[in-house]
Amino acid sequence: MIGVYDSGIGGLSILQALRRELPEQDFIYLADSGHGPYGERETDHVLERARRITEHLRGRGVQALVVACNTATAAAIEHLRSEHPDLPIIGVEPALKPALALSRSRRIGVLATRMTLASDKFARLLEPLREQAQFVLRACDGLALAIENSVQGSAQAQAELLACASEHMQALGEWGTGSGQIDTLVLGCTHYPFIADQLQALAGPQVSLVDTGAPVARQTRIRLADLADVPAPAPSGHGHIELISTGPSEGLQAAAQRWLAPELHASTVDLP
Ligand code: DGL
Repeated sequence: MIGVYDSGIGGLSILQALRRELPEQDFIYLADSGHGPYGERETDHVLERARRITEHLRGRGVQALVVACNTATAAAIEHLRSEHPDLPIIGVEPALKPALALSRSRRIGVLATRMTLASDKFARLLEPLREQAQFVLRACDGLALAIENSVQGSAQAQAELLACASEHMQALGEWGTGSGQIDTLVLGCTHYPFIADQLQALAGPQVSLVDTGAPVARQTRIRLADLADVPAPAPSGHGHIELISTGPSEGLQAAAQRWLAPELHASTVDLP
């Protein structure tokens, strides 16, 4: 079984890709909904939650952990890896290099949380690429929360989400393929693929959107193969997905039913 976690429903976008890559693998997905969103909190809070969640999922017997959250990866992955050297831990980071390979205008927009963009890990990722393109960064305060709130579908929550997304997209600058325009957009938070259609509509059809689901899933398969010490490990499960939330589970269940499979159920776990 592989453990996957995020501050809320965002990591389901990674779980979608993991399922495509490893259809027979069993997964346990933990949404830290009682303690998120993370992006505008203190780094220590996110690190403490990462430790707590990792202990919990280890207790459930996971053989690998996917930190399906850019913010938690930036804040905690190095600590988790040194504290759990025997556990393969896979993280996610904004797809700057794939975006560089796609961009012709050499102007790339990056949407992510405030904590991700302020992290040393992100600075190290960006630094060697700065010469090759202009990266326009936007800390999307409120956007992950607006996505969480919109899942259960009130018209008002949908309208608030669109207003929040439009504000951040407008702040990035001019979209298009001409010189000085942004032609590639990095979705640097795992919540954002769920509003890819709205973001595409705001940016225009020529703009390429880049997320990290598929590469993270491939990397996870490679790490599992290393673990089994064979090139292609035998499928180790039945494609079962367990969903747990540290807060109310209705949003997680609604999101999983919409984006993964209609029969999925979520329950609440007590993890203060
Ligand atoms: N889904 C998370 C990420 O990828 C974070 C959203 C949040 O908790 O603020 O960064």
